[in-house]
Amino acid sequence: MENVLLEVNNHIAQLTIHRPKALNALNKQTIAELSESLDPLAENPKVRVLIITGSGEKAFVAGADIKEFAGFDVKEGAQLAAAGHEMLFDKIENFPKPVIAAVNGFALGGGLELAMACHFRIASDNARLGLPETSLGLIPGYGGTQRLPQLVGKGKAIEMITTASMITAQDAYKWGLVNQVVAPAELADTCQKIAQKIAFNSPMAVSAALRAISGGFNDKVNGYNIEISEFGKCFGTDDFKEGTIAFLEKRKPNF
Ligand code: CAA
Repeated sequence: MENVLLEVNNHIAQLTIHRPKALNALNKQTIAELSESLDPLAENPKVRVLIITGSGEKAFVAGADIKEFAGFDVKEGAQLAAAGHEMLFDKIENFPKPVIAAVNGFALGGGLELAMACHFRIASDNARLGLPETSLGLIPGYGGTQRLPQLVGKGKAIEMITTASMITAQDAYKWGLVNQVVAPAELADTCQKIAQKIAFNSPMAVSAALRAISGGFNDKVNGYNIEISEFGKCFGTDDFKEGTIAFLEKRKPNF
């Protein structure tokens, strides 16, 4: 892979988007490389958590690659958005293991949309977040019009998208767009510590919880029914046996 770096250590995988000259902007190749990386990580039982970040201290991802789509027509524009949803953004949202965005700088346009497709976000205090597409004569095309209102509410999402303004990491924290803000030097370590806590728990239960929570945001299914079904299924698993026996034996579980 040219634009994406992969590391796996102690149950934690990290994908780093590495196009420093373009502030890690998402071109077609980078989207394909990210997409292809996800499938084996989803299936690898040794991987329990995924962190996605950008290379360097300036940018997480500065958006879709403007140079690449500048000459597109209506059909190509629609294809760009559809392919992005299918190949990457929906795949991350439906990833069977928690995906943390380590937002280490500018997260703009497709970059903020990528962070929002992740299950939650931790930002460095130098991060700037926004959906500037309307300033380019566009609207967000990688899920931003849908996921931003889910995270910050309709009014703030409309303000961010129609003003095309960037917000600070602190404002993103106040608005619920990121879970935590830390110094840039502490970002990697903070994400690793959170990932380690997740990796200690039952991977089966963590995936089941993700399915139930996501079910609540899917109009086609009833989240409460998914919770009931997933809860029931847990009782048939070795992880449930180990978790409950460990509690009763007053020891830590070994999943
Ligand atoms: N696409 C392609 N190249 C990009 C880029 C992008 N989204 N963002 C930055 N770059 C490139 C710049 O063109 C520049 O390259 P050159 O040196 O070859 O000119 C290099 O990265 C460094 O960028 P700047 O010189 O602009 O750096 P800066 O510090 O002055 O500004 C910035 C930083 C504010 C992030 C600015 O680069 C910027 O505004 N970038 C564009 C942000 C944007 O509009 N993103 C939305 C894209 S549209 C989209 O994402 C659509 C969608 O929803 C699907």
